[in-house]
Amino acid sequence: MPMPACFLSLWRVGVFIAALMPLIWWGWQIANNMAGPEPGRYLLLNIGQGALWLLLLTLSLTPLTKLTRWKGFSLIRRQLGLWALAYAAMHLLCYVLFILGLNWAQLGSEIVNRPYIIVGMLALLGLIALGITSNRWSMRKLGKRWKTLHKANYAILGLVLLHFLWVVRADMQEWLIYAAIGALLMCLRIPPISRTLPKLRQRIKHSA
Ligand code: HEM
Repeated sequence: MPMPACFLSLWRVGVFIAALMPLIWWGWQIANNMAGPEPGRYLLLNIGQGALWLLLLTLSLTPLTKLTRWKGFSLIRRQLGLWALAYAAMHLLCYVLFILGLNWAQLGSEIVNRPYIIVGMLALLGLIALGITSNRWSMRKLGKRWKTLHKANYAILGLVLLHFLWVVRADMQEWLIYAAIGALLMCLRIPPISRTLPKLRQRIKHSA
């Protein structure tokens, strides 16, 4: 059954507010001394995790559309992708402000001591490239190449997971959960598996 246009607009606004809320919540926690002894690092880590969540959510929208045929999922794909980019940019800003302390001379030794920073930067550059080309004009200009370019999302996810793994090396439990979700989403993109999603929808519909 087609959804009324006003419902879809509300859905988009709702998603926008939901993506904004964690930032307000972390800001409120910091303002009220609830963010521990290192609020800058607290913000850096939370925003980094937020960016990863948003990336995973963005990648889940295509399989969800195939499974449910609901237009609402594809309607928020660009918005969530841009939110992932915005969070990743804020994560970098936190790093520059609170870890590097704007001390650019230290950047060289930081990169040597924490090589995962280069991996993070590559992921951010990828997100920027996808963000810049996420508009209709680029879609038209790039034609078929647009789809190929936007498949880079999976390479970006791989880089982010590597970046995260490097950070948490000792305690891998949390990382494994993210990696498993990422692997599942990648599997759902494999053509023979992806083709089964609409069939699965039909089967669920008939058995209901
Ligand atoms: C732009 C370049 C980037 C820099 C300089 C950077 C820097 C950092 C740093 C310093 C940490 C914390 C390490 C520690 O525990 O001391 C970190 C953790 C993390 N970063 Fe990045 N990062 C970058 C890009 C990204 C991107 C693009 C994403 C996701 C889209 C991301 C997601 C994460 C995650 C999930 C963590 C772990 C958070 C946790 O342990 O809870 N980072 N990053």
